[in-house]
Amino acid sequence: MNILLLGSGGREHALAWKIAGSPLLTKLWCAPGNAGIAQEAECIALDVTNHAAVIDFCRANKVDLVMVGPEAPLAAGIVDDLTAVGIKAFGPSKAASQLESSKGFTKDLCTEFGIPTGAYGRFTNAADALAFVRAQGAPIVVKADGLAAGKGVVVATTLREAEDAVAMMFDGAFGSAGAEVVIEEFLPGREVSFFAFSDGETAIALASAQDHKRVFDRDEGPNTGGMGAYSPTPFVTPEVHAEIMERIILPTVAGMKARGTPYRGVLYAGVMLTPQGPKLFEYNVRFGDPECQVLMLRMMSDLVPALLAVCDGQLKHFDLRWYPDAALTVVMAAKGYPGDYAKGTGIAGLDAASSIEGVEIFHAGTSADGDQILANGGRVLNVTAMGRTVREAQQRAYQAVDRIDWPEGFCRRDIGWQAVARETGA
Ligand code: AMP
Ligand code: GLY
Repeated sequence: MNILLLGSGGREHALAWKIAGSPLLTKLWCAPGNAGIAQEAECIALDVTNHAAVIDFCRANKVDLVMVGPEAPLAAGIVDDLTAVGIKAFGPSKAASQLESSKGFTKDLCTEFGIPTGAYGRFTNAADALAFVRAQGAPIVVKADGLAAGKGVVVATTLREAEDAVAMMFDGAFGSAGAEVVIEEFLPGREVSFFAFSDGETAIALASAQDHKRVFDRDEGPNTGGMGAYSPTPFVTPEVHAEIMERIILPTVAGMKARGTPYRGVLYAGVMLTPQGPKLFEYNVRFGDPECQVLMLRMMSDLVPALLAVCDGQLKHFDLRWYPDAALTVVMAAKGYPGDYAKGTGIAGLDAASSIEGVEIFHAGTSADGDQILANGGRVLNVTAMGRTVREAQQRAYQAVDRIDWPEGFCRRDIGWQAVARETGA
């Protein structure tokens, strides 16, 4: 099979690595890719926002399957345009992508189909939003309705913070993404990421993971796209897993089908494990980054038949096998991230680092200058390792981190701390 992968991050490197291991693969391209992805795929400079150009490429190269990594092309309807001309593409339609591209859409779906989530209001003007915030009090969560690259959520601990967030969003801080604002009840509890494939009719669970969104150790500092992750998480017990499937994932799939916008693709549920049980606080319509990196390492089955089963509506009798081992990934980022940072700094020691048992290094934002690997983004490397326990995976990952020579980079030193504390009884 010929496969085209869209994207350029660590998520896409992990997907490329997994797809490249499939005996079904003939040729893999990635647009635009990065220096690490180039080891697995031919990277091509294709403008992914130009759907006609993507279609032309697929026709000229007999592409059998397009795998879409990030949310932006999905929200722009790339899967609709590809399938309309008979090209198979993995990911939800533009209408179904609203599960991520409109937080209000998802909240209304939850109300309609009884999916557990926090109480909320949707607002298109600051005065009404402020009145609601003042009536509810803090803590409270203020969210831009549309896509805001992970920055459109303010968890306000004081009324003042909530008022400022409302003002900032209606002042256009997130452009049209903030033209509508969702204000949501603060959900206390532990946050987990839960992944499932859906073919529009049914769903199968993939695995759980835990992300570390804050930039500094002990979960301090500003939010980021994710500084590290591990899977599985001990907090998603078999009972919690079953509850998330039955009360959140399956009603979502049934609801989307009933509304005439069936969901096909990977469903990434952000779930809070509250004292009242699991509650949904957001959906994403793509794999998490860096959660995908740990899922791909743990997946024993070939990914490609699963992608095809999702596209073809054949998930009902499908089964995926997983290694029981844990996987953990540490994000190495350029100093200054998530604020301003320098690009073009040199990175050495990658071969020595990846020679450690169980270690895979995925590139999140790199470019190559001859043999030299250069940082080319905020999140730059995902140092990923398998181990029998989260602790062993963590030790291997940090051993590999310590072999990487990149003075302009940094990482958190405590990825996986919650699971390690539970394993060691600390
Ligand atoms: P998001 O950008 O949607 O992933 O949200 C950023 C972070 O805000 C999440 O990872 C959660 O930690 C937090 N969050 C979102 N919604 C809620 C909520 N209703 N209650 C508590 N925390 C929330
Ligand atoms: N790791 C969080 C995300 O992919 O949105």
